[in-house]
Amino acid sequence: MENLKKLVRGKKIISVICNQWGDTGKGKFSDYFSCYWADVVARGTGGNNAGHTVILNGKEKVFHILPSGIGHDEKGVISLLGNGMVIDLKVLLEELAEMDAEGMTYKNLMISQDAQVIMPYHISQDLKKNQSQKKGGIGSTGRGIGPCYMDKIARRGIQIGDLYDEKILKEKLKKIQEYYPEEKFNVDVLVERLKPYADKIESYVKDTVAEMHRFREAKKKILLEGAQGLLLSIEHGSYPYVTSSDCSLNGTATGVGLNSKDIDLAIGIVKYPFMTRVGGGPLPTELGGNKSEKYCSEEGHEKEFELKKYEISYEIIEGEIKYDLQDKKIIELMNSKDEFKQGVGIRLAANEYGATTKRPRRTGWTDCVAAKYARNLNGVKMVLTKPDCLNGLEEFKLCFGYKVDGQKSVVKDFSKNKDFLYSVKPVYKTYKGYGDLRKVKEYKKLPTGFKKSIDDFEKFTGAEVIAVSTGPARDDLILR
Ligand code: IMP
Repeated sequence: MENLKKLVRGKKIISVICNQWGDTGKGKFSDYFSCYWADVVARGTGGNNAGHTVILNGKEKVFHILPSGIGHDEKGVISLLGNGMVIDLKVLLEELAEMDAEGMTYKNLMISQDAQVIMPYHISQDLKKNQSQKKGGIGSTGRGIGPCYMDKIARRGIQIGDLYDEKILKEKLKKIQEYYPEEKFNVDVLVERLKPYADKIESYVKDTVAEMHRFREAKKKILLEGAQGLLLSIEHGSYPYVTSSDCSLNGTATGVGLNSKDIDLAIGIVKYPFMTRVGGGPLPTELGGNKSEKYCSEEGHEKEFELKKYEISYEIIEGEIKYDLQDKKIIELMNSKDEFKQGVGIRLAANEYGATTKRPRRTGWTDCVAAKYARNLNGVKMVLTKPDCLNGLEEFKLCFGYKVDGQKSVVKDFSKNKDFLYSVKPVYKTYKGYGDLRKVKEYKKLPTGFKKSIDDFEKFTGAEVIAVSTGPARDDLILR
């Protein structure tokens, strides 16, 4: 706790943003800061395409919309859904109902009047597009995110504030109808359906940008909680294999009405020494390459399938699949010379299956070229996550460059161009495995070889590693 206090001393606005393709374990850090530090926890981008674990009454819950600060409402922590978000009201109310069921409060929730509303026709369009793009498609989460942002950009989207003026709402929906001829929705029926949702959240709807400015003025401690990851950003990610919001540091600040220059500690999260991606699109370091991408995009390859296929014992307790992440067979897979199998082993060892869609996440070694790019966009300070999951790994690799066909020299700069990323071959440096990190509490006590890899990472990327996460619990964190 002393190190954490040192880290946050004098800070007023902290952001936690993923520097890769999402799923780097940001939730734990947002939770850590909201528990020990923040007065306000705000989300600025995306919607229920995200998924993070929140601890309520000691139980794990996966939330998709509410920020992780919501578990600390009782203490007065404000949870804010910002202007840049797209909100599915049904899902939001389900999450609030879970809070009710746990006897937990959300009296300090604020929902931006400017956020966009995800409508049933957005979800239907998203699913249809996924269907028609089965081969080589983006593989969206099917939550209506893209179509909802399309309406926002086309300046016809329904904002939360519109829900409280029936005349305006109906007029807007009638205009929108012409853009969704196949959906044939009835405006009156839809308005009736939305009404109970709108009523339920009305007291939380605010001009959150003005609120944020007041919080900043009053020197409240504000945590900006990122969603997805830099490499999925519509601006800076591997377009078109991206989500539809700008989930970079700047985009997240915009999404809550702040200037990113106001952020006095911007933390980029990097999964290390492996990384993941879910859905289609390039992942230069993918173990098993195209075979893995194809396999992970096909239906039926979820966790249970893989456990059965590799004969790893598991139980299902209250609908949850439980297995020993350190099972001998998993460690064997992780050390396999067959890269595809090694990728499966890492997936199983780190339990890398989508929190939102349950899809298997594609796995590969941490790409330092991409991390250098992230440093240039999201800031210098980084936290490394999940290395503890690879206990038992004999050796690991880090990517410090790309080989491009027909070029002699190794490329050391990232380009988000999809054809470039699909064509390059990573250049690796290999390190010895580092054993069990879970009991290590001090940076200087980390294994020497592991620390050396971090030194190389910092030297190459120009980043400053401020902490290493060594387990799922809030306090499993070694601050430097
Ligand atoms: P969408 O955001 O549902 O439109 O999906 C667009 C792409 O972003 C797909 O490849 C998704 O798999 C990916 N994606 C969206 N949200 C997340 C996330 O929270 N973690 C990881 N990938 C995501």
